[in-house]
Amino acid sequence: MSDSRIQSAALRGKIMSADDAAAFINPGENLGVSGFTGSGHPKIVPQALARRIAAASGRGETFRVGVWTGASTSPELDGALFKVNGVSMRLPYQSDPDCRNRINAGEANYIDVHLSHVAQNAAWGHYGKLDVALIEVVAILEDGRLVPSTAIGNNPTWLDLADKVILEVNTAQSAKLEGMHDIYSVALPPHRQPVPLTAPAGRIGDPYLRVDPKKVVAVVETNCSDRDNKFTAPDENSRLIAGHILDFLQHEVKKGRIPPNLLPLQSGVGNIANAVMAGLNDGPFDKLTAYTEVLQDGMLDMIRSGKLVCASATAVSLSAGALSDLFANIDEYRKSIILRPQEISNHPEIIRRLGTISMNGMLEADIYGNVNSTHVLGSKMMNGLGGSGDFARNAYLSIFMTPSTAKNGALSCIVPMVSHVDHTEHDVQVLVTEHGLADLRGLAPRQRARLVIDKCADPRFRPALDDYLARAEKGANGKQTPHLLGEAFDWHLRALRGESM
Ligand code: COA
Repeated sequence: MSDSRIQSAALRGKIMSADDAAAFINPGENLGVSGFTGSGHPKIVPQALARRIAAASGRGETFRVGVWTGASTSPELDGALFKVNGVSMRLPYQSDPDCRNRINAGEANYIDVHLSHVAQNAAWGHYGKLDVALIEVVAILEDGRLVPSTAIGNNPTWLDLADKVILEVNTAQSAKLEGMHDIYSVALPPHRQPVPLTAPAGRIGDPYLRVDPKKVVAVVETNCSDRDNKFTAPDENSRLIAGHILDFLQHEVKKGRIPPNLLPLQSGVGNIANAVMAGLNDGPFDKLTAYTEVLQDGMLDMIRSGKLVCASATAVSLSAGALSDLFANIDEYRKSIILRPQEISNHPEIIRRLGTISMNGMLEADIYGNVNSTHVLGSKMMNGLGGSGDFARNAYLSIFMTPSTAKNGALSCIVPMVSHVDHTEHDVQVLVTEHGLADLRGLAPRQRARLVIDKCADPRFRPALDDYLARAEKGANGKQTPHLLGEAFDWHLRALRGESM
C-alpha cells in the first residue's frame, strides 16, 4: 500500500503505528478531526489515543482533549474517547450514545453550532487554538496533495489552522474517490468574495486538500470501513409523511411556484428523510438535483434510477451495502456526486441563491411553528442542530417533519410552547406529521396555530391543544401570539413526571 497510496517520499518517511502517532497528542490540546455522519473519520489513531488516556487515568493523571469534527463520527472515535472520559469539549454535532451521556451528565462541554459557522468561528479563534489536525485521506500524491475521503467537513480549515497534522490513509476507501471532491475556501471578512457557485453540479475549486508537509508529524495506514449507516424500511408513519410532502410538492408545481423538476433538495438525517427520498424515487418528478449536506442511501437509489441527476454534499453516509455499490460503480457515480467543504455545502449564500427544498427532522414543534430539533424536554441534548438551521433560514421551502407522537404515544410532538427553540417561527414554513401538512407561509400566528393543531397534532391531543389556544386567546396579555405563561410547559412537566402529556 505504501507505494501506491502514499506517493510522497517525504511523507512516506513519516509512516508509523497508530500508538506512535497518538503520542504526538498532549493533554489539554484541541483536535480538529475529519468525519461527518459516520464517514471519513480517522479509525485507529483515536482508539490509540483512548488507550493513552485510559493509561494516564490509571496513573491518576488527567488527560482530556477538545474534539472538533465535521459532524457525528462513530464508536471508534467519539465512542472510544468518551468511554474513557477523555473529551473536555466537543463540537459541532454528535450522535454517539457515550458522547451524549457524558454531555447530559455534565461531564463534557458541548457547543451545538450551525455547521456552516464552524470553520469561520475556528479561524477567528472562538474555540481556542487548534493543536492537531487528525484527518482520514484516501491517498497522498507525490507532491503532497491529499485525496479526500468520504467526507470533507471542515478538513481544509483543520489542515490550515493546526500546528501538527496526523494523516490516516485508509485503503478501505476506494482510491477512485479521487476527483469527486471540490475544495474551495472562503476568506474571512473583509476579504470575503461572493462564492461563485450557481448550480449544484458546479465546480469552483480543485479536488485535493493541501497541507504544509512540514506540519505532518505522522502518517498512519489503515484499512477500516466507515460506520454502517443502516436504514430500516420506511414505517407507516414515514410513508404517510413522505406522501404528504409529495402531494404538497405537486401542488407547488401546479401553482407554478417551482419547476417540474423541483428545486435542489436538501434532506436531513434519519429514516423519515430516507422515506421521503424513496417516495420521490417512485414519484412523478424527474431530473431532480440535490444540494444537501449528507448523501444517504435514498439519494444513491435515486441516482441509480436516473431520477436524481446531481447531488452535491459534504459527505456520503451510507449503509455498508450502499457504500459497496458506490465503490463498485464509482466511475458512474462520480459523474453525479460532488463532495464539498461543509462551509460550502451549507453556505447560506448558495442555499438562498439555489432556493433549496429543505426537509429536516425535529423533536417537537409548537402551535405557532417554533421548532425544537435538539433538546428532549428542554434540557437533555439529543444530537445537535447540525445543518438544519443553515438550510431552514435560507431555503425556498423549509419543511420540518416528525411523527405526531413519541414514546408510544405518550408524548405529543405538537405542544403549546416548545421546550427549546432551534428554529423560530420565522424560519419554519411547513410542518408535517403522519396526519397532515401545515403550510404556514403567509399566515399570522393565530392562523398558524389553528392549522398546526388541525393538520399535524395527533387527534388524541387535539382537544387539549384547542382548549389551550382558546383560553390563551381569552386570557393572554396580548392577542398577537397568545400564551398562558403559567401553563405553557405543563405538558413537558407531565412528561418529566413520567405521565402522558
Ligand atoms: N419529546 C421527547 N422525545 C422525543 C420527541 C419528543 N417530542 N420526539 C422524539 N423523541 C425521542 C424518540 O422517542 C427517540 O428516542 P429513543 O432514541 O430513546 O428511541 C429519539 O427522540 C429520536 O427520535 P426518532 O423519531 O427516532 O428521530 P429521528 O431519527 O427521526 O431524528 C431528530 C429526529 C430530531 C433527532 C433528528 O432529525 C436530528 O438530530 N435533527 C437535528 C439535526 C438535523 O436536522 N440534521 C440535518 C441537517 S442537514
